[in-house]
Amino acid sequence: MTPPALPPARDPDRYTLTVVCLGNICRSPMADVVLNRRLEEAGLTDRVRVDSSGTGGWHVGGPMDPRAAATLAAHGYDSTRHRARQWAPERAEDHDLVLAMDRSNLADLGGRSDRVRLFRDFDPVDPGGEVPDPYYGGDDGFEEVLAMVERTAAAIVAALQRELRAS
Ligand code: 4NP
Repeated sequence: MTPPALPPARDPDRYTLTVVCLGNICRSPMADVVLNRRLEEAGLTDRVRVDSSGTGGWHVGGPMDPRAAATLAAHGYDSTRHRARQWAPERAEDHDLVLAMDRSNLADLGGRSDRVRLFRDFDPVDPGGEVPDPYYGGDDGFEEVLAMVERTAAAIVAALQRELRAS
């Protein structure tokens, strides 16, 4: 399957991507940590900046949900540096690509556009779906989110490598 093309970088030397969920304590910070790890492995940390935020402000300044942190730690990732932030519409101007975790997040961002997509549009296995909110469920939900995030992050970083080589 051919993944969708990334919207082009506005500055050819760097790419800025942000991931958005509801609380910024479960899904989008997990994607943020995994994407940053994959970028490190690809030697792209100087050229790609990834961060995350939530459309809701309840957890601003707080750490990741302990279940998200434990799931990441069990798979060798460090979650301790995360502090929750709230999305603000002006942040869209700072990013080449804004990735929403579910359709509700996408609607809160103003809907799909050239630079606003669902994160799982880039899922190489089952594209176009949502990353389900694990907040009210059990630990299995966090494992499921991590699996979706890992395979999708790998596809996004591969697309970034192509985009940055081409520019
Ligand atoms: P997230 O999960 O959007 O993946 O961070 C949630 C975290 C907190 C809440 C909802 C979802 N909450 O209602 O506080």
